[in-house]
Amino acid sequence: MKVSIIGGGGRVGSDAAYALQFGGVVREMALVDMNGDMAAGEALDLRHGASLTCNQTFTSSDDYGIVDGSDCVVITAGLRRRPDETRLELVNRNVSLFKGILEHLKGVKLNDGATIVVVSNPVDILTHLAAQADIVPQSQVLGLGTVLDTCRFRSLLADHFKLNATDVKALILGEHGDSMVPILSSATLGGVPLSSIPNYEAEIQEVFEFTRKSGAEVIRLKGGAGRAVGVSIKEVVESISLNTEKVLPVSSWQKGTLGISDISLSLPTKVGRKGVVQVIEPVVNDMEREGLHKSAKSLKDVLAQIS
Ligand SMILES: NC(=O)c1ccc[n+]([C@@H]2O[C@H](COP(=O)([O-])OP(=O)(O)OC[C@H]3O[C@@H](n4cnc5c(N)ncnc54)[C@H](O)[C@@H]3O)[C@@H](O)[C@H]2O)c1
Repeated sequence: MKVSIIGGGGRVGSDAAYALQFGGVVREMALVDMNGDMAAGEALDLRHGASLTCNQTFTSSDDYGIVDGSDCVVITAGLRRRPDETRLELVNRNVSLFKGILEHLKGVKLNDGATIVVVSNPVDILTHLAAQADIVPQSQVLGLGTVLDTCRFRSLLADHFKLNATDVKALILGEHGDSMVPILSSATLGGVPLSSIPNYEAEIQEVFEFTRKSGAEVIRLKGGAGRAVGVSIKEVVESISLNTEKVLPVSSWQKGTLGISDISLSLPTKVGRKGVVQVIEPVVNDMEREGLHKSAKSLKDVLAQIS
């Protein structure tokens, strides 16, 4: 499989490429970046490690020509969130840049069934724009959505309860942003329902709040998030590449699940070679359902302002 990473010279794009190098699930990676030198440097650096990782080819350019023949295009190019800025405030700065990228993608020849994975923020809004762009069918457009938030939440819950992160199952759904919703009613710790702990909602409130602010904290500390988002992107690309139909909280155009439609946000979704295989209706309590509807509304309000 050939994956192109638009913004591959940047922090998120290059960390995604690095995660994919260890993942070994794609054969070819093309790094496109308006900063051609950065993309070339990343590609050379990755190539240097090939003898100790896996057999892959790397190309780079500031020209979209190298995207021809891709099976998956991951878009990470974008402006970074300022520490005091919400993801939705980024919308105005990022939409025109993103539309320019979509215009470039209209001019390249993607393979049949190719998917577009949007990572740039605000990811749900940009995923919706990509799905409207008619480059590939709507169901072949996914956003990273709350995959990263879910990954962060599981790790931070594990720290709180002194467990391995892989033993904690908990989802965050809705917007990748301020209105994200933790689904606590079905969360488990080593197979034990979180809800069996007295006052569990109050106990984990601080953990959730830190999860929600974690992205801004990483930006404050090191300038931008990269490692966890890189492995989150790898998780999605792996499910596409191997057609594993893994259920992931990716963002996609919703069509009525839980009564949500006409907006892209994250719900549990089977991800396969051609993108969305099925959106799965999660079991949620009334408060969680209400939170997801609020998330949809806040995204629709933003979408209305830009279209
Ligand atoms: N969805 C998520 O979970 C998540 C997590 C972290 C970051 N992000 C988002 O990812 C994006 C990138 O963040 P970053 O830290 O890597 O920023 P960065 O500045 O390090 O990298 C962005 C790269 O995009 C390139 N670029 C800009 N416009 C381009 C264009 N038109 N064509 C090709 N390349 C272009 C830049 O040259 C740069 O190398 C931001 O929008 C950020 O908010 C999303």
